[in-house]
Amino acid sequence: MLIFLCYTEIKAYPENFEDYDIIFVGYPNWWGTMPMCMFTLLEKYDLNGKTIIPFCTNEGSGMGASEHDLKSICKGATIKTGLSVHGAESAEAESQVTVWAKKSV
Ligand SMILES: Cc1cc2nc3c(=O)[nH]c(=O)nc-3n(C[C@H](O)[C@H](O)[C@H](O)COP(=O)(O)O)c2cc1C
Repeated sequence: MLIFLCYTEIKAYPENFEDYDIIFVGYPNWWGTMPMCMFTLLEKYDLNGKTIIPFCTNEGSGMGASEHDLKSICKGATIKTGLSVHGAESAEAESQVTVWAKKSV
């Protein structure tokens, strides 16, 4: 399992990407979808056959168009239903995230 978190810039690329089948993709909702750096990161890889599990913080737009956009750019991947967390409540969301993450894999 691999976790991609991306916000304003890509700090590092994972090693041995091909060894991972399940990828959690986390980001804030910006302008109704993922920040541009997440598009850049995901477009770098062949995601055919991978399972993508998105989660995002936001201030009311939920996942926005991000799940739709993930389906467009992650060719051949399975995109699971994402978890939307209200940004202001994210510090208290640990148990919600834990339950969701366990159910998702
Ligand atoms: C440039 C920018 C665009 C944003 N666009 C949206 C949006 O379209 N919908 C929404 O619900 N929140 C939007 N937000 C709020 C962020 O999703 C929110 O700040 C974030 O999820 C909370 O994480 P943070 O505390 O790290 O900022 C935007 C924030 C920024 C900075």
